[in-house]
Amino acid sequence: MAKSNFDVKELLSKMTLQEKIGQLIQLNAVFFGQTTAEITGPAERWKLATKEVYNMGSVLNFHGAEEMKRIQDDYMAKNRHGIPLVFMMDVIHGYKTIFPIPLALGASFDPELVKECTRMAAKEASAAGVQLTFTPMVDYARDARWGRVLETCGEDPMLNGIMGAAQVEAFQGDDISDHNNLATCVKHFAAYGGAEAGRDYNTVEISERLLREYYLPAYKACIDAGTKMVMPSFNSLNGVPSVANKWLMNDVLRKEWGFDGVVISDYNAVGELVKHGIAADMKEAAKLALEGGCDIEMMSISYYEHIPALIEEGIITEEQIDASVLKVLEFKKELGLFEDPYHGADEEKAAALCLSPEHREIVRRAAEQCAVLLKNNGVLPFSKDIKTIALIGPFADNNQIRGFWACDGKDEDCVTIADGIKALLPDVKVIVERGCSEKIDELDKSGFKAAVKAAKKADAVVLCLGEFQKYAGEGNSRIDIGLTGVQQELANEVLAVNDNASVVLFNGRPLALVELDEKAPAILDMFFPGTEGGNAVARLLFGDANPCGKVTMSFPKAVGQCPIYYNHPMTGRPKTKPENEHQGYASSYIGCGNLPLYPFGHGLSYSNFVYESLELDTDTLMADGEINVKITVKNDSNVAGKEVVQLYMRDLVASTVRPIQSLIGFEKIDLAAGETKTVTFKVTEPMLRFYDANCNFISEPGEFTISTGHADNLLLTKSFVLK
Ligand code: GLC
Repeated sequence: MAKSNFDVKELLSKMTLQEKIGQLIQLNAVFFGQTTAEITGPAERWKLATKEVYNMGSVLNFHGAEEMKRIQDDYMAKNRHGIPLVFMMDVIHGYKTIFPIPLALGASFDPELVKECTRMAAKEASAAGVQLTFTPMVDYARDARWGRVLETCGEDPMLNGIMGAAQVEAFQGDDISDHNNLATCVKHFAAYGGAEAGRDYNTVEISERLLREYYLPAYKACIDAGTKMVMPSFNSLNGVPSVANKWLMNDVLRKEWGFDGVVISDYNAVGELVKHGIAADMKEAAKLALEGGCDIEMMSISYYEHIPALIEEGIITEEQIDASVLKVLEFKKELGLFEDPYHGADEEKAAALCLSPEHREIVRRAAEQCAVLLKNNGVLPFSKDIKTIALIGPFADNNQIRGFWACDGKDEDCVTIADGIKALLPDVKVIVERGCSEKIDELDKSGFKAAVKAAKKADAVVLCLGEFQKYAGEGNSRIDIGLTGVQQELANEVLAVNDNASVVLFNGRPLALVELDEKAPAILDMFFPGTEGGNAVARLLFGDANPCGKVTMSFPKAVGQCPIYYNHPMTGRPKTKPENEHQGYASSYIGCGNLPLYPFGHGLSYSNFVYESLELDTDTLMADGEINVKITVKNDSNVAGKEVVQLYMRDLVASTVRPIQSLIGFEKIDLAAGETKTVTFKVTEPMLRFYDANCNFISEPGEFTISTGHADNLLLTKSFVLK
């Protein structure tokens, strides 16, 4: 689309102060087009004369092109300058055709797959009127108690950054005014995932060194990929809530990283500065947020109510406001809204795209490739020449598998496991027995008897278990991350009568599954797979698809291990005894080992991948040199498959403690039955850098190791020295 030449500076010069401030306020769609004289914000937090709405700058939480156009037409007719609104939504893992949650997307280790899903979402959402999505969420997370791990790609900074940047590129394309593209907003800046005790919105106290090494890189990757907006996080960071945190928002984001786009608060996060106790009232909250560089205030109106007085009192200047307003108007111009306020939105186009067979195929394939085969004693894949299969558990015919942030996606659009298996194997008798609930407080076992009876007479059994989809996501933190309710007891009774059985899991976080792991012959984790979940499950269980996902967030043995993550330092007293033995005077637990049940990078396949060799072309790396690494992998099976070849590094001695392993590269490869392939990586000095005690980003000469193999036990290791 031709670049707009609309003169936003000339427009700005015609606007009154109140009109300018209005461009810095974002409200829910429900407030537009009201006929009452006054509107009231959530929980009576604020009131506003309805006519003032026609000064506001942007909208969130609307539904579909028709509503968007109605609001836009009404607004532009009543806004004195005819300035278009910009419409924003959370298109996190799909708009209407839903793909797996980001925690599963990361498990694919396939940025191209993530881009394909994102491109699909961009087309649907843009046609439905969305012009910016509050995506990617790249909060670094180590604590499975936190409900929003569902939205992250887990515990590795590099993987998080790669997947976040892939989403930015795929949503934005080359030109956000293109009708198939959306602008993006990276969130939640910063370190929201570091919430103390894994409790959402809780305090975050993290050293600058840890911030820079683990929590900040993924946001930076998205900014380098060109994201148009940044959303500060709700949490206080080292004592100051992000939206008012000058070090974070000005020193790091603006000065150090050079971000000159728009900053938008999270939902009422400016108002919450009063709750945090760092603002006495909304006027002070407005002042602090403005000083923190926040341009748009989402769902609070402190700017609208108090900026005129703050200017009058000389606390802020109108030039500061002009600068923010100009950024917002420039953003609308870049979207092409002054020429096309609809940004190409079209109900019929949206209806043709949403849930189309092509889009369903994309999300089904994604669900297959994001699934992680956690355990398999050989029972999978099931044989297709069975007569009867029993689907037992709360997810047997349950369509609540789209995940917490599913935008306009609906449960009723989702394919259940029962649907999927009936479609794949129309001649097989499918018995469905839910047996129990997936809800924490529902302990009724009256369904066990019928479930066990079904299991006894079935040729194969699928235990369809997991987490109620509202137990993960925003505001949903848990103190126990085991199977909820009586699901484990149901599994025990069913597994006792039929061992040709596999578990299929639906979950939004890593779960603690020690007992299930001991008793189940196989466990296939789908996370929340989205619209085509049931078809993906059927194809995976019966071998029409071969699992290839890898864990991106460690599955603890017990919630007491949280936070637990693979890239941890050694400590001065590492545990040396066997995992299940307590070791006094060592860093260990009584009653539980230190290791996760399933570590980062773990994931099985129906193929058998053998890591035959790891070779370095030199054992000495000069500062300006490189090491060429070759890893040879053989598919020693008769089943073609995909393997994520992972390259890990360890810095054996440094001026700050270093992780026992750090992922520095990965490549997903296809291997035909019996095929051998060699994957190459280059290791260079910048890949070895870390933040020292003074936050200098440096590498230090010394000995390093390079490792690869199955994540559970990196089989091949070589050493080299950095000179
Ligand atoms: C929510 C979330 C944020 C989302 C915003 C708008 O509270 O924290 O991720 O983008 O509000 O829905």
